[in-house]
Amino acid sequence: MDIKKEFSGKTKDNKEVYLFSMQNNNGIAIKITNYGGIITSLSVPDKYGNFGNIVLGFDDPLKYTSAAYLQSCPYLGAIIGRYGNRIADGKFSVAGKEYTLIRNNGPNHLHGGASGFDKVVWEAGENQTGGSAVLILHYSSRDMEEGYPGNLDVTVIYSLTDLNELKIEYEATIDKPCPVNLTHHSYFNLNCMNSNILNHELYLNADKYTIADDTLIPTGEIVDVKDTPLDFRNSHSIGERIVHMDNGYDHNYVLNKKTGNELTFAARVTEPLTGRIMEMYTTEPGVQLYSGNFLDGSLSDAEGKIMNKHYGFCLEAQHYPDSPNKTHFPSTILNPGEKYSQTTIYKFLQG
Ligand code: GLA
Repeated sequence: MDIKKEFSGKTKDNKEVYLFSMQNNNGIAIKITNYGGIITSLSVPDKYGNFGNIVLGFDDPLKYTSAAYLQSCPYLGAIIGRYGNRIADGKFSVAGKEYTLIRNNGPNHLHGGASGFDKVVWEAGENQTGGSAVLILHYSSRDMEEGYPGNLDVTVIYSLTDLNELKIEYEATIDKPCPVNLTHHSYFNLNCMNSNILNHELYLNADKYTIADDTLIPTGEIVDVKDTPLDFRNSHSIGERIVHMDNGYDHNYVLNKKTGNELTFAARVTEPLTGRIMEMYTTEPGVQLYSGNFLDGSLSDAEGKIMNKHYGFCLEAQHYPDSPNKTHFPSTILNPGEKYSQTTIYKFLQG
């Protein structure tokens, strides 16, 4: 399996942006740019063997730097960091010191700040392991970048295996204690944007979720999904109970785990018309289900299809929102001498 590398252009600060393409032996093909580590397309077959792109994205990586894109800023397909999801009031304390971050989401800090890991250029290297092509992305985030303490070295490895898995492995080390919560933000639409995602059937391996306030900050309570529209322990279409969810789903689920950080089955999504199925596995304790509530129709993809509300869903593997301010949540603090690691797999099947 080979990786193709195409030069796309330069950012305003003169950094080189490339588009990498990989294909597995079953014809599944992915394109990833080193700008934000963004997956720009992912082509998988339906039950008849027809291939189609199942992630929201642009053909030209430089479109992710355009004013129109930055204005709506949906984080399409990107690596998110240092802290995926929200930190209340943009404040946290670590090692006896308080830190203040930008408030870029109402009163809260979201997805790493004004220029999070989704808006930086990553160094890219290619490799082969066990027959799979891999793309290795590396980023050195400097001390106090976006207000976070410590020099953080992050490596993200994307691989596409012959088991039809997109595997994302993350590693990071730091020289001062700091919260680190990395995730990936692809919006999937298993019907290739030919309809919204409300007919997609979702199974989520979670008995509990974190209740949140109006600004999506957890109150600290972890409660049962039972008897709520958040219960996906039996498959339901995403749309079936969405009218009870205000703007839609944007919730952190607490995955059912035995020990805490083992790779476990998290979710399965089935699209009934095309028979495309996606399974998700992760070592993370939580997953944010987001039903594309803020997609506002202002952007369109490479084929001219409009990204309207509910035209994509995200399953973001992560620690719980606002963990730095909730001492009873699993800790997100990365200390010097420790290694952050996460593996998340999205696997594609045909029903
Ligand atoms: C996450 C958040 C959402 C939204 C999207 C990006 O999923 O939980 O509220 O901010 O990212 O639009």
